This record gives sequence, structure tokens and C-alpha cells, in this order.
Amino acid sequence: MKTMTAYEKLEKKLSENQATWLVTGVAGFIGSNLLEKLLVLDQKVVGLDNCETGYQHNIHQAIADAEQTTGKSLSSNFKFIEGDIRELKDCQQACDGIDYVLHQAALGSVPRSIEDPINTNRANIDGFLNMLVASKDANVKRFVYAASSSTYGDHPALPKVEDTIGNPLSPYAVTKAVNELYASVFAKTYGFKSIGLRYFNIFGKRQDPNGAYAAVIPKWVAAILNKDDVFINGDGETSRDFCYVSNTVQMNLLAATTNNEDATDQIYNVALNDRTSLNKLYQMIEDRLIQRTQGLKKKAPIYRDFRPGDVRHSQASIDKAYTLLNYQPEYMISEGLDEAMDWYVNSLTK
Ligand SMILES: NC(=O)c1ccc[n+]([C@@H]2O[C@H](COP(=O)([O-])OP(=O)(O)OC[C@H]3O[C@@H](n4cnc5c(N)ncnc54)[C@H](O)[C@@H]3O)[C@@H](O)[C@H]2O)c1
Repeated sequence: MKTMTAYEKLEKKLSENQATWLVTGVAGFIGSNLLEKLLVLDQKVVGLDNCETGYQHNIHQAIADAEQTTGKSLSSNFKFIEGDIRELKDCQQACDGIDYVLHQAALGSVPRSIEDPINTNRANIDGFLNMLVASKDANVKRFVYAASSSTYGDHPALPKVEDTIGNPLSPYAVTKAVNELYASVFAKTYGFKSIGLRYFNIFGKRQDPNGAYAAVIPKWVAAILNKDDVFINGDGETSRDFCYVSNTVQMNLLAATTNNEDATDQIYNVALNDRTSLNKLYQMIEDRLIQRTQGLKKKAPIYRDFRPGDVRHSQASIDKAYTLLNYQPEYMISEGLDEAMDWYVNSLTK
């Protein structure tokens, strides 16, 4: 008989024991995927979002998808608070009665932070500090937060190992590095131990294809389906450790519920320890979309200048996550792209 992974055991344990979770940024890409999984596991979820870059329809879809998976009506297990993490009182209201906080709300995107560092700072540093204080004061069992691979900055070492970081290359990277500093200081000064997850280019369903700051995978998918030009910044040999969102959900749940004391007050990479160039990624996406869409033909991408603030290569060691949290990614990049492309073709070509 196949032995269960730590995550499978956790899924079973959670579905037998209901807890209350706060997901900030619940109307966004990763937040709505966390919501869906928690509802499938019969958890109670409070969601906080100001819908600045997220959408109410992501929440509705997450609930509908969870209901389809379980065959149960789940909306009574979810409460939405339309609020802003820049307001301490909104954070306090959201943290009331919460067991686990999964803090995802932030303004993402390196280019957005270069255009507007002040608003990025407000959401990502002021908002983060509010959430940390509110979570500590509410005595939540664990505060898990979205950190970022951008914290590795200009350090050239590959694969990236959590202890070795360089200088930030963008205002966004500064904000995410400051989050880690605050989290560590809260452990030292108040004994409030959290866990930071450095996400590496997460992709999957409900990631927004629209807008100037869309991430590369949904932006390219939308362009290819619309038969628009696809632009590659640089020579296409820039590489990233692209990680499917289900692996990210797994890390959040393992981090929130770990009983291993050594695993708390820590930062972890969330990735695959794999590296895919933009040229390879383009081919993988185009091939899958052509397979799924009648009349779609191959088209070469257009190369343009490198983008300021971007690092050349990124690949993460996941040894620490495996050793301390038993993280075992369930999806490699091709399996993740298969699922994501099914979803994009269904939702963008309807
Ligand atoms: N997607 C990635 O590859 C990636 C990589 C590294 C880090 N991250 C981090 O993961 C988290 C989630 O990212 P995502 O890709 O789901 O982005 P997203 O933009 O889809 O979701 C972020 C959500 O936060 C909400 N939000 C923003 N400012 C807020 C505020 N002041 N108050 C309340 N809600 C607010 C937005 O409305 C949105 O729904 C972010 O912290 C991001 O920095 C993401």
C-alpha cells in the first residue's frame, strides 16, 4: 500500500478538525486558491481584501469550484470582509477569533513598485505591520505570510538558499525584505513566531491576464489566444523557477499547522528547484494552447530590451522546506501548465 505524504495526512486531519483561517488578499490569485482548498477541507475561512488588484468573481469561482469538488454547499463557511490592510482596525476586525492567518494581501509586481514606490510601500510595509500586530494581539496560532524570491536580489548563487541573500533590486523587493525583518524582530521581542514563504513565480488558475502588471504566463496566454504579439524581455534565456499554485497552497497549509518548533520563525523557498528559460516557457505554453484551440497557429515571439530590476536567473533549493515542513511538490512545471492551460482556455475563450 502506498504510504501517505505529510500533506495527504494533513489534508485528512484538517477535514476531520475544523479551524478558522484568515486569508488576506482572498480576492487575488493565490488567496482565492487558498480559499478553495480550505473550503474543500471543510475549514471556516474569513477573507479580507480591498479588491485593488483582486476581484469578487475570484471568490465566487473559488467557492463554486470547492462546491463542485465536494458536492456540498460551502458558502456558509466563508465570510468576506471588504477592508484594507493599511487600516489597523480592519486587520483587528479580521483577526478576531482566527486560528491561522495566511497573509497574501500586497501590491505585487516589480514594475508597479518602480512606477509607484509609495503605494507599494503603504500596502506591503504599513499593511504588513498592521497585520502582524493584529495577529499577535489576537493570539493567533500561526501567522504565515507571502514573502518573495525578489529578496535574493543581486546575489548570483544558484540554487538560491534561504540564508544567502543579496541587495534588493526594486522597491518591491525592499518591501518584501522588510517584511522578513519585521517578522524576525516580532519573534525576538514578543515571542510571536511566524513563517515567511518566498514564492518563486507562482502560476495557475485565476492569475490575472489583464493590466500592465500581469505576470508573464497569463499575459502570454491571453496574447496567444487573441493572436496578439508576444514580447520577450531580453534574449529569452532569462530563467525562472515556475511553480504551480497547488504547491504553494500545500506550503501554506504545512507551515500554518506545523508542530515542529524548529520550523517556526523561519523563511522558506516555495518552488520546484527547477529552471525554465522564457524561450522554453513560450514553447510549452504555445504547444499546449495549439493542442486545445482550433485554428491557432505557431507564431514567433518578439524580443525587446531587458526590463530594469529583473534578475537574470532564478532557481530555488527546496531542501529546507522538505526537511523542516515535509514539503513535496505535487506538480512539476509541465503538469501545472497542463492544468493551468485547461483553465485559461475554458475561461478566456468562453
Ligand atoms: N504570484 C507570484 O508569483 C508571487 C511571487 C512572489 C510573491 N508573491 C506574493 O504573494 C501574494 C499574493 O500574490 P498574488 O499573485 O495572488 O497577487 P494578487 O494581486 O492576485 O493578489 C493580491 C490581493 O491583495 C489585495 N490587496 C492589495 N492591497 C490590499 C490592501 N491594501 N488591503 C487589502 N487587500 C489588498 C488585492 O486586491 C488582491 O486581491 C502577494 O503578497 C505577492 O507579493 C506572489
